[in-house]
Amino acid sequence: MFRADLDWDAFTRFFVKNFRNKDKVQFLQFASSDGSEAYTQIITLLENHDNIEKFLPIKAYDIDKNICNAAKSGFINITKTDKKKFADQDINFNKYFKKSPGKLYITNDSMEGAETYSVSEPLSNNVIFNHGDMKDVLLRHEDNSNSIILCRNMLYYLTDREIDYLTTLAAYKLNKGSLFVIGETDEGKAEYYLKRKGFEKVLHNVYRQT
Ligand SMILES: C[S@@+](CC[C@H](N)C(=O)[O-])C[C@H]1O[C@@H](n2cnc3c(N)ncnc32)[C@H](O)[C@@H]1O
Repeated sequence: MFRADLDWDAFTRFFVKNFRNKDKVQFLQFASSDGSEAYTQIITLLENHDNIEKFLPIKAYDIDKNICNAAKSGFINITKTDKKKFADQDINFNKYFKKSPGKLYITNDSMEGAETYSVSEPLSNNVIFNHGDMKDVLLRHEDNSNSIILCRNMLYYLTDREIDYLTTLAAYKLNKGSLFVIGETDEGKAEYYLKRKGFEKVLHNVYRQT
């Protein structure tokens, strides 16, 4: 599907087991961009797992108003390469996306060769997109050892001081068992800070509070 730098199947199997004794899981996503990661996560749950209501909806935040409004529009631009990944994984693309006659324009995002699709209800009903800054949302967050935080390919763009602050905040806010997930561009630096602050690595790019 989208964003193959995380093994979504392995990650999803892991968190379903990790939170098997929880009635509700708080699924937060920062740097949610055009929504493609949230959609990939929801499709992975829908296609492979039962009783998934406790993980949804995903609350997704991005600091960039333009990209956030694009995600909120209910449309998404998809390339032929990404579309083909659905067929490769034997997932019915048309169940989740319908070709749109109009075009979604996103400032500073050319997505060369991409076509615009409307996002179907099984996806749009299970994610809430918000304009928001990770640090403000995390400051308000109350964890009950039941949180998943996706923060992928965002820390990489920050200064060491900012990464230090955000990982300290995450370590302070998350209780034992909650998860923090990074992307491939974040790997070196984010891993260093997360481990220093008590997170253990449980899968590639997936960290758990101890
Ligand atoms: C390189 S994109 C990564 C998008 C997506 N997570 C991925 O892995 O493809 C970085 C995104 O982080 C967002 N961002 C940067 N700082 C943020 C913050 N403090 N809170 C929420 N989103 C932020 C940017 O607006 C941008 O959409």
